[in-house]
Amino acid sequence: MDWDDLKVATSTVRCEPAGREVVVVHGTNLVEAVHQARLPLGQSCNGLALCGFCRVTVVAGAANLTPQAAEESRLLRTLHARADERLACCARVVGPITITTDYW
Ligand code: FES
Repeated sequence: MDWDDLKVATSTVRCEPAGREVVVVHGTNLVEAVHQARLPLGQSCNGLALCGFCRVTVVAGAANLTPQAAEESRLLRTLHARADERLACCARVVGPITITTDYW
């Protein structure tokens, strides 16, 4: 077995303007990443794409998140979210990304 086969893909998640950065395993959702960065993030539906309180703005690296599923798209439309906003409970990291909220 080649040890390179066992490497787990990771990427950075940067939280601005707090200036916090964490390295997460690909597939980690943004709620988990923000908690690793020890920052607060609103949520009340426990990741069911119902409340919208976990909404974050993607500053850079939007293509490095998993695509929106139907539930996330529906709630973002209902909330009249901007195109650069995602639900942190739904978006999973697949590359470097920078996010922000208006309360960090
Ligand atoms: S935690 Fe409710 S929509 Fe993300």
